[in-house]
Amino acid sequence: MSLLSSSKKMQLGEQLGGNSSQQYKEKSSSTSYHVISAVTSDSETVWISWTDGSSAKFHNIWLRDHCQCSQCYNSTTYQKEFNILDVPLDIKPIDVSLNEQNSLSIKWPDSHVTAYDATWLKQHSYGEHGASGVTRQTGKEQKPFLWDKNTIETKLPCPFEFNKVISEEDELNGLFRRIVKYGFAFVEETPTTVDAIEEVAIRLGGFVKETHYGKVWEFSNEFLEHADTAYTSDYLRGHTDSTYFSHPAGLQMLHCVEHEGTGGLNLLVDGFFAAEKLKQDDKASFDFLTSTIIPFQYKSENLHLKAHGPMIELDPFDASLSQIRFNTYDMATLDCMKYEDIAQFYKALRAYCCITCAPENQLWFKLVPGLVLIMGNWRVLHGRSSFTGKRTMQGCYVNGDDFFGKYRAKAVTHKDSNCRIIQEEQN
Ligand SMILES: [Fe+2]
Ligand SMILES: [Zn+2]
Repeated sequence: MSLLSSSKKMQLGEQLGGNSSQQYKEKSSSTSYHVISAVTSDSETVWISWTDGSSAKFHNIWLRDHCQCSQCYNSTTYQKEFNILDVPLDIKPIDVSLNEQNSLSIKWPDSHVTAYDATWLKQHSYGEHGASGVTRQTGKEQKPFLWDKNTIETKLPCPFEFNKVISEEDELNGLFRRIVKYGFAFVEETPTTVDAIEEVAIRLGGFVKETHYGKVWEFSNEFLEHADTAYTSDYLRGHTDSTYFSHPAGLQMLHCVEHEGTGGLNLLVDGFFAAEKLKQDDKASFDFLTSTIIPFQYKSENLHLKAHGPMIELDPFDASLSQIRFNTYDMATLDCMKYEDIAQFYKALRAYCCITCAPENQLWFKLVPGLVLIMGNWRVLHGRSSFTGKRTMQGCYVNGDDFFGKYRAKAVTHKDSNCRIIQEEQN
């Protein structure tokens, strides 16, 4: 970008103001600290350079919108008090300066002064488009650990203890991190009462997501209580649940409280791992499944749910994997696609399915009374083998917003110090 000749430039040290940047410091990450080396401004933008060699430009109106002084921003409710719609689109600072607190100070035409912390500005610089055309990383609290059968079996995370999850914050924090990292976790020594699984759900999301199946459900294969294959004793291919909701459940919890018979093993597949593998093996199919909207439905006598979404959803801000919506049982009639896309869809579906059905990508295990399975339903596919005998399951859902909302607020720092697996990973 070329700077206008009328722009004014200030090097660090030529400070004019003494405005405090305190208002932004609380929002800055403690892990990185940035120092502004130079600032230039023109009629539309303020361009900032940092001492690490990076630079970014900010629109005047964006800067005015992001004033977080006590007049403009309520730091108790984290809401804006100032209405940017009251400001002309071509607002220009009457003064731009650096001050001793390593902050940028801007004086506006009405004499209002805003101070921006250098690190905050660096963290929130925008418009840096990468090769994929998406904006920069938005920052994830926990990077997912992608797994296939071999990886997860050698690093199978140890279960959490029910009593500790209910009563100890550190244990709960570890459980949050584990679910986000691996896509699933176990809680052992759980009482077989319906209340117990609900207690864990409330710790994770604050609420159980109530659906047409009920709140916390207990069901056996003796009666087909709902129009759903899950209520039979048949083999269930890997799938994610509630694809027919606008927002599929974020977590599903399952507890096998009784099984007198054979079979009934549980299956998990890392849907993110499978998507990543598809991207490497067959990029055209990956691109198709990330960009094509597929319809899903649940239909019974009294209820017809319909929703849609891509089978592999990417984060719109950083293009990372954000949600798998994969359920071949619940796909609705496919009459919403262009004629020429149909063949490509079945090819892409088969390619993804082949990866999820490959034994080397599947984790099989047997749930026993006391051992609760918590699955991230936006990532991990689940299924089960056919079985004989009476099998009684308990389960419930938790909303993704509720779970991830609590997770973000916790800013979890628990290091799982009791867990051999995590210690190995840290080495
Ligand atoms: Fe299911
Ligand atoms: Zn203000």
